[in-house]
Amino acid sequence: MPETASDVGHQLCSSQVVIADRSQIVTHVNQAFTPVTGYTPQDTVGKKCNFLQGTETNQLAVQVISRLLFQAHGASFQTIRDALKREEPCRVALLNYKKSGEPFWNLLTISPLYGRDGKVSNYVGLQVLAAYLVPRAS
Ligand SMILES: Cc1cc2nc3c(=O)[nH]c(=O)nc-3n(C[C@H](O)[C@H](O)[C@H](O)COP(=O)(O)O)c2cc1C
Repeated sequence: MPETASDVGHQLCSSQVVIADRSQIVTHVNQAFTPVTGYTPQDTVGKKCNFLQGTETNQLAVQVISRLLFQAHGASFQTIRDALKREEPCRVALLNYKKSGEPFWNLLTISPLYGRDGKVSNYVGLQVLAAYLVPRAS
C-alpha cells in the first residue's frame, strides 16, 4: 500500500488501462493490469470487465464510497450502465476482486472514443487501485 505522496504518484502513473470495443468487450489491457488484478490478457480479452465484480460489489457500498471519495462527482454503480448508454465519461469507485479473490477498491473512469463518423468506436477505462484512499477506521 502506498504511504507517501511519491508512492501515490507512482501508483497513479502505473494505473491499469483497459480498452474495449463499442460493445464493451475488452480488446487490450496494459502491462499494469495483470500485476494488480492477477488476470492475464488471455483471461480478459474478449470479455466484459464485469468479471471483476463479486458478492460485495453492491450499489449501496459504491454510492457511499463514491460520495466519500469524489463528493461532487459522487456516482453509483448504475452510473456505469447509464453513462455507457448515454456515451458520456463516468467515474465511479467500486469494489472489485482480483483473480485470487482478494477485493480491491477501484477508482474507475470510463471514457468513450469517437471515430471519424462521430460515433463511439471504443471505450477506455482507467483503473486506479484505491485502497489507500479509503479512511482507516479510528
Ligand atoms: C473500458 C471499460 C472498462 C471497465 N472496467 C471495469 C472495471 O475495472 N471494473 C468493473 O467492475 N467494471 C468495469 N467496466 C464495466 C463493465 O464492463 C460493464 O460495463 C458494467 O458492469 C455494466 O454492464 P453489465 O450490466 O452487463 O454488468 C468497464 C467497462 C468498460 C467499457
